[in-house]
Amino acid sequence: MRMGHGYDVHAFTEGEHVMLCGVAVPCKYGLLAHSDGDVALHALCDALLGAAGLGDIGHHFPDTDPAFRGADSGALLRSVAENLSANGWGVINVDLTIIAQIPKISPYIEEMRKRVAAALAVPSGQVNVKATTTERLGFIGREEGIAAHAVALIGNEAFPR
Ligand code: CDP
Ligand code: ZN
Repeated sequence: MRMGHGYDVHAFTEGEHVMLCGVAVPCKYGLLAHSDGDVALHALCDALLGAAGLGDIGHHFPDTDPAFRGADSGALLRSVAENLSANGWGVINVDLTIIAQIPKISPYIEEMRKRVAAALAVPSGQVNVKATTTERLGFIGREEGIAAHAVALIGNEAFPR
């Protein structure tokens, strides 16, 4: 088995929704990014790539490449999952923490779990998504952006998944 960790931050900009775990969550801002700005899926991609010893998201999908402008981060996650699979790894479980003062994420958590599980081709019981504020402290508390952490456990054929 191998474990990996990922972390990402995106700043708020003008908009009316934020993409988080493949779900468009209504918000008084959008997220500034070269891609769709799905900070949670970017952290998850990094956790999975980290576990497999395959570098990071910027290495596989450079933000200088016009091919990834406005990219669907769900497609990036599926590509990462396929890369792991091709290297003999399967996902045992993943756990995500979205750190956001706004918007309220809890109504969307079940849909997020389903979307992530579908991209990883695992049952949604192997995917956990949770959220916390920073009690109005720091850049997140000032509503300047959103951060996400992810951890992933992967296994080869010797481990159940
Ligand atoms: O300290 P704790 O995380 O319990 O408190 P909090 O940051 O105020 O978050 C309380 C609950 O609100 C969390 O457990 C999340 O379920 C939820 N939450 C949310 O739905 N959306 C957010 N952006 C932040 C928190
Ligand atoms: Zn990102």
